[in-house]
Amino acid sequence: MKIIKLPSEIEIGQAVGDMFCALAQQNPQAVFGLATGATPIPTYQRMIARCKAGEVSFAGVTTFNLDEYCNLPEAHPQSYRSFMRAQLFGQIDILPQNTHFLDGNASDELAECQRFDALVEQVGGIDLQLLGIGRNGHIGFNEPDDTFTDGSFKVELTPSTIAANSVYFTEDVPMPTHAMTMGVGSILRAKEIVLIATGSAKAEAIKAMIEGPVDPQSPASALQKHKNVTIYLDPAAASLLE
Ligand code: PGA
Repeated sequence: MKIIKLPSEIEIGQAVGDMFCALAQQNPQAVFGLATGATPIPTYQRMIARCKAGEVSFAGVTTFNLDEYCNLPEAHPQSYRSFMRAQLFGQIDILPQNTHFLDGNASDELAECQRFDALVEQVGGIDLQLLGIGRNGHIGFNEPDDTFTDGSFKVELTPSTIAANSVYFTEDVPMPTHAMTMGVGSILRAKEIVLIATGSAKAEAIKAMIEGPVDPQSPASALQKHKNVTIYLDPAAASLLE
């Protein structure tokens, strides 16, 4: 794991946004794995700014998002489809038909996971996967468990994840309790991975991921087994590292 500490989330967003721009410049048909949450927003802002400045085009790029809530209408503002449209896709020149999600409302969940995983394989796999990390060490929605998962699957969210994300929901539409997510195995098949953590709430999860054993109770620790991972940390997220 290559660990890079930068002073703030803005500098991290610029560095990681530039990684995605450089990849699209080198390979206009690149395949991105993308993430939602607060962490990737500065990265997406950098990609938007550079696309609007005419420095890069994403018109040939294909994307796969890590996860999506179950039982939440696609058009709901907190669906990850809506998030990606608002925070990135609606502001760059990517083609909507090249942006792929797990369908959290699919009636046949197994078939949906197989469809998604087959599509990733069909386009040759993910070139660069962006990750955040949960306070409990989750990547995508791979929650702490007794075993590591492989392909995409439906997961029951833990109380820690529900508490962290319910701030985005209201009483009328409560936080979903389940989601569909790429598995840890799916994530490890990406050719290159970049994980961002900012803020002190992530410090313990970062310590376990980097200094702890490879343990499914700390799902991000699986990244120790990947050959091309870069971790970007701000001082607060790095504060517990030896
Ligand atoms: P956050 O979520 O970026 O909103 O902190 C990260 C995650 O849960 O993976």
